[in-house]
Amino acid sequence: MSIYTAVHGFAKATLPEPMWRLLRDAAAARRCYRTYFRRHVHGIFSTIRATGEHDNFTYELTDRCLCYLVETLSCALKRPREEIEAYIREVTEDPGLNAMALSTTPNVKLKCPFGRRLGWYAVARATKPRLIVETGVDRGHGSLVLCAALLRNAAEGSPGQYLGTDIKPEAGELLVGKYAALGRILYGDSLESLNAMTGPIDLFINDSDHSADYEYREYEAVAGKLSPQAIILGDNAHCTDKLARFSREHGRHFLFVAEEPKDHWYIGAGLGISFPP
Ligand SMILES: C[S@@+](CC[C@H](N)C(=O)[O-])C[C@H]1O[C@@H](n2cnc3c(N)ncnc32)[C@H](O)[C@@H]1O
Repeated sequence: MSIYTAVHGFAKATLPEPMWRLLRDAAAARRCYRTYFRRHVHGIFSTIRATGEHDNFTYELTDRCLCYLVETLSCALKRPREEIEAYIREVTEDPGLNAMALSTTPNVKLKCPFGRRLGWYAVARATKPRLIVETGVDRGHGSLVLCAALLRNAAEGSPGQYLGTDIKPEAGELLVGKYAALGRILYGDSLESLNAMTGPIDLFINDSDHSADYEYREYEAVAGKLSPQAIILGDNAHCTDKLARFSREHGRHFLFVAEEPKDHWYIGAGLGISFPP
């Protein structure tokens, strides 16, 4: 008999029912914490100390997550999985691009820090957008990977342009060099920038103010500016159902892939994909 079973039996025999139930549930919560969460919680402090990252973390994806990402994009874009995998390899096997992405976090030791943005890249490569709009740029990991896709598209005869929006004047430090030639950042409130845009937008990525209301207002702001084949990627779909609802209201399909960071305490965000039938 384990010590836990003995204590539980003694408590049940001697204490009033509400009290032994409380003790039982507290012990179960402690066991759950130790089994499922302790290693994540303990990793938070050491990861922040090691990387200096306080939000918008950089990490790789697990092989399983990459597999799900490939399968989902293959269905949404109606392309063979081998094609999607080949696009993703263009990023993971580009040391220059990855070194650039890691230049703002010299203590992060990763081969490829783009996480779910590998999916953004694959969509941009597969659909050859002429205009990509990403709201919320921050350091510019999305800008960088999307402009890298545009560079390859242009070399293959399908040029395109990137527009990012951010309210922070310092946003976009990674968008430099050859990548900056294909894109620029509109500083100010994202909704104002979207309202001033003409379009047509072929690929729209929502990643600015993560409140549900603001997210939905962004989709409404671009609704009339999307090209017929436009794809929307929502970076808030792990928190809200706004992109799924917008998709229903506009006769579009919706899929979601949950992110699974590799060797990182963060539980991950996800990739909401809205596409025309
Ligand atoms: C999660 S980060 C974006 C991350 C980025 N997409 C990437 O790939 O790393 C969110 C960004 O949205 C910006 N932001 C928040 N509210 C905004 C608003 N109302 N208009 C424009 N940008 C906003 C923040 O300044 C922040 O840089």
